[in-house]
Amino acid sequence: MTLLVTGGAGFIGANFVLDWLAASEEPIINLDKLTYAGNPETLASLQGNARHQLVQGDIGDSVLVSRLLAEHRPGAVINFAAESHVDRSIHGPGAFIDTNIVGTFHLLESVRGYWSALPEAEQAAFRFLHVSTDEVYGSLAKGDPAFAETHRYEPNSPYSASKAASDHLVRAWHHTYGLPVLTTNCSNNYGPYHFPEKLIPLMIVNALAGKPLPVYGDGMQIRDWLYVKDHCSAIRRVLEAGRLGETYNVGGWNEKPNIEIVQTICRLLDGLRPKADGSSYASQITYVTDRPGHDRRYAIDARKLEAELGWKPAETFESGIRKTVEWYLANPEWVQHVQSGAYREWVQQHYSAA
Ligand code: NAD
Ligand code: DAU
Repeated sequence: MTLLVTGGAGFIGANFVLDWLAASEEPIINLDKLTYAGNPETLASLQGNARHQLVQGDIGDSVLVSRLLAEHRPGAVINFAAESHVDRSIHGPGAFIDTNIVGTFHLLESVRGYWSALPEAEQAAFRFLHVSTDEVYGSLAKGDPAFAETHRYEPNSPYSASKAASDHLVRAWHHTYGLPVLTTNCSNNYGPYHFPEKLIPLMIVNALAGKPLPVYGDGMQIRDWLYVKDHCSAIRRVLEAGRLGETYNVGGWNEKPNIEIVQTICRLLDGLRPKADGSSYASQITYVTDRPGHDRRYAIDARKLEAELGWKPAETFESGIRKTVEWYLANPEWVQHVQSGAYREWVQQHYSAA
């Protein structure tokens, strides 16, 4: 079976593509717009691999998507493509509406056109898996039970509202047209190839550069952290055995306040790359103005995924965060290229619009 993956040059999508191709013979067509967040350098190890083809393009480009579907006849589409950063959505929500809502709509329509013309057996086996977020459920107060799949949608940021809208579209395309969809709603990911605009990579990169570590508000907002490779294994499992039309929450029961995350990173760096003056990286922690509308707490109840599909995360937070810090220490060039924009030149040189 060929897979069509969208957004597979971003953080989670690229980890998924790398893991999939390492473990299976099945090829991947990787459609990615290569926005600032899409980085083909992350996929450099796949150069010359006949089972991977990166195509630069937009999920909203119906002509391109329909052509890719007709040419490659994938057995499944996995939709990672999105604008993903909450702070950017606050400064400029337009791109989030365009890609996360309108783009998903066009993608669903292209896929529906392809799927409805498939022979019966291929139609029955086909899957459209939509990768979404726990942020669609809104914010929890201390002591509230974790988000179950039945929690009402209460998105609070332009990002989460746009993802919520996309989830509703996916659901509707199943109920109205019978498109065989699956949706996953995952908590905060961390791990290799995470763009350093998000909390964990930003703190690692800033710490090493001697810059302030900007903690929003009181730093007591809680996120539920999952190592990215565990998210990828959950997606593979849902693709394999998920019930059509169902949503599955994905999380690792790892709730932590932001300040604790930052302190853990500092402690790890103090051990792995001590500062010359003997001070702790924690001395760089700086409290800054809070994010507008900042959700206080997320927590995922992942019991459905475990009970129905037998999925469990492989990493603890302690093992995952150590691997992550070590990865950033071992890959300064990746970080440097992402920051300098050098990878954009690489994109121009090696890829052009398909
Ligand atoms: P990312 O921002 O790192 O990557 C997004 C990728 O999508 C990039 O490669 C980008 O170039 C591509 N893209 C953007 N617009 C596109 C378009 N119109 N057409 C084609 N490609 C486009 O995001 P991520 O953190 O890897 O998240 C991937 C998905 O997982 C998103 O849907 C996000 O909402 C969801 N998610 C993320 C997290 C997290 O913690 N990062 C948690 C749960 C769910
Ligand atoms: O919950 C899943 C979501 O997790 C995904 O859907 C999003 O795509 C992903 O970006 C992430 O959203 P968050 O807003 O939770 O992640 P971020 O890394 O931006 O911030 C994590 C927490 O850290 C949040 O409470 C804000 C805070 N923060 C973030 C940054 C970038 C800081 O205190 N300082 C910072 O500089």
